[in-house]
Amino acid sequence: MDINIKIGTVEKEPADILVFHLYEETNTLSDALKYCDKSLNNAITELIKKKEFTAKPGKTVVLPTYGKILARRVMLVGLGAKKNINTDKIRQAAGTTACTVRDMGISGFTTVMESLEAPPSASSDWYQAYGEGCFLSLYKFQRYKYTPPEEKKELQTCTLLLSNKEESKSARDAVKNAHIITDAVYLVRNLVNTPSQDKTPSILADTAKRLASAAGIQCKVLSKPELEKLGMGGLLGVSQGSVQSPKFIILEYNARAKNQDTIVLVGKGITFDSGGICIKPGKDMDQMKSDMSGAAAVMGAMKAISQMGLPQRVVGLMPCTENMPSGSAIKPGDIVKFYSGKTAEVANTDAEGRLILADALGYAEKYKPTAVVDLATLTGSCVVALGTVVTGMLGNNEELKKRVKLAGEKSWERVWELPLWEEYQEQIKSDIADIKNIGGQYAGAITAACFLSKFTEKYPWVHLDIAGTAYSEKNNAYIQKGATGIGVRLLIQLIRDWTQFPAG
Ligand code: BES
Ligand code: MN
Ligand code: ZN
Repeated sequence: MDINIKIGTVEKEPADILVFHLYEETNTLSDALKYCDKSLNNAITELIKKKEFTAKPGKTVVLPTYGKILARRVMLVGLGAKKNINTDKIRQAAGTTACTVRDMGISGFTTVMESLEAPPSASSDWYQAYGEGCFLSLYKFQRYKYTPPEEKKELQTCTLLLSNKEESKSARDAVKNAHIITDAVYLVRNLVNTPSQDKTPSILADTAKRLASAAGIQCKVLSKPELEKLGMGGLLGVSQGSVQSPKFIILEYNARAKNQDTIVLVGKGITFDSGGICIKPGKDMDQMKSDMSGAAAVMGAMKAISQMGLPQRVVGLMPCTENMPSGSAIKPGDIVKFYSGKTAEVANTDAEGRLILADALGYAEKYKPTAVVDLATLTGSCVVALGTVVTGMLGNNEELKKRVKLAGEKSWERVWELPLWEEYQEQIKSDIADIKNIGGQYAGAITAACFLSKFTEKYPWVHLDIAGTAYSEKNNAYIQKGATGIGVRLLIQLIRDWTQFPAG
């Protein structure tokens, strides 16, 4: 699908379907809508008066125009109450519109952008959100559907109709950004939805290499011999039960920008989490193909950041391995030694994410990072605490947490902070190693972060637990069942808004 910008008027717009957005409290129609209403013998006023169309979010109605105006149909799409409007409502409205039009079998639509009533200072954010909603809602994962659907309904174009020529440059830029961002989300969703058989650590490493050469960024992949030399006992320990060899993927953007802040992004890349010897129950185990969602988000963010040409130096670290049971698998009670030299008792082989992240977070020090953000589908406990609506956030630096929180609100990939208080560190003490990899029955998301905090003492750090937000079990306006692509829009927002850290 393409999104075009067009300067013009409703009277002269020969669209298949002309889309107006309405707020719940609207009782006087805009001039453009009045023109349609009049031409259609007041059909629109009638619908509103009789409450047959309420302008609640998600509500739509389509009216044929029978040649009374140039456009063949008029569609009204609700935005809800004006006091509740935000960019995500815009994203949702765009998603609802795009899917409705596609399902009608119509190949394109034109949206009267004035009907959003965007505040001038935010219009470019709103247009970007509109573009994102269109692209994201149309996502489908069809790599493994070999029987073609009988009738293929595909949306070809979305036209944003503007009346003000002055706005066209900023609208074009907004749509371009929406395209870059949603391309990255598509990459993440595709990777996460792909079955583990087709995204082994080696395959992910090849994907990263291809991405890097297309984007003109650097890629290095550390394989088993190098991991052994570096002493990455966490990643090696988790991988030892699998026939797939582990890979530590490093992407580096703006590698030579020495005077810039350096942001390191770390993503958990478990390409399948069976639990290992502490094997998981069979029910829903298939969803554990999504246990590399953190690594996928980092890869997607690196792609978008390089396409946007942002000034910062950004490094992506993705430790990748399967977690499998076998005769050679790591056993409960085994002790691993990490890159940093610290040791951990593996009390539970299903708490594997923190073991591979410990090596990556230790390795991050090498880049003298200004800030480090890690993303991981780390704990079921986080899902118990926060559900699937919001990502858990913990960290060691107030300013970085504040920035991540703001980026989460702007991108609507919101985060909620959990406390990383000293008292919790008690729970991961070990009798025979420096720490152990589980912390008992309670506060599992926090004790997992406590574990990570032992490897992040030298830099500002935020950890995002995306276990509840990476995978959706139901469809909504712009996210389909399956991989959500969580994290990538937040990371892009964080780095686009980056100013010198810490702020002076
Ligand atoms: N990948 C899982 C966490 C997870 C659970 C992600 C549900 C998405 C949905 C992680 O490796 C895991 O197994 N964590 C254990 C830790 C426990 C053994 C301390 C958990 O949360 O049960
Ligand atoms: Mn696990
Ligand atoms: Zn896991």
